[in-house]
Amino acid sequence: MQAADSERAGDGLTALFEAARAVRAQAHAPYSRFRVGAALRDDRGGVHAGCNVENAAYPVGTCAEAGAIAAMVASGGRRIAAILVCGDGVGLVTPCGACRQRIREFAGPDTPIHAAGPDGVARTFTLAELLPESFGPETLGE
Ligand code: THU
Repeated sequence: MQAADSERAGDGLTALFEAARAVRAQAHAPYSRFRVGAALRDDRGGVHAGCNVENAAYPVGTCAEAGAIAAMVASGGRRIAAILVCGDGVGLVTPCGACRQRIREFAGPDTPIHAAGPDGVARTFTLAELLPESFGPETLGE
């Protein structure tokens, strides 16, 4: 089974959702009041979570995905097997453009990206679907 199929079948997806939902409650979002939680699984099976952290100097705020990725890197992880973003928006809450690129650094075209609302996963995309023809480390010959 491909990683994306395995995720869709539910292996570990509940754990990612619960991690994202829990960390979303910790979001510091006094300006937008839009709380976001993200949780990812690395290729060693570790789960890392992050929430958005806004700032009175608005552009300095950081997205939930950035926090989850930073936690993964700090723990020694370098590969995202799957990532889930949880928010309560009008329509889907998918990673913003900058976060798609942040995910790209540590993920491949088939990596599943789950978009969840407060009650569960609404849609699942691959990274290639959300960021086609992307620029990445390989472009630099890495
Ligand atoms: N936000 C995220 O944390 N992740 C995204 O991918 C979309 C946007 C946050 C940033 C800001 O704190 C709030 O949601 C409203 O844009």
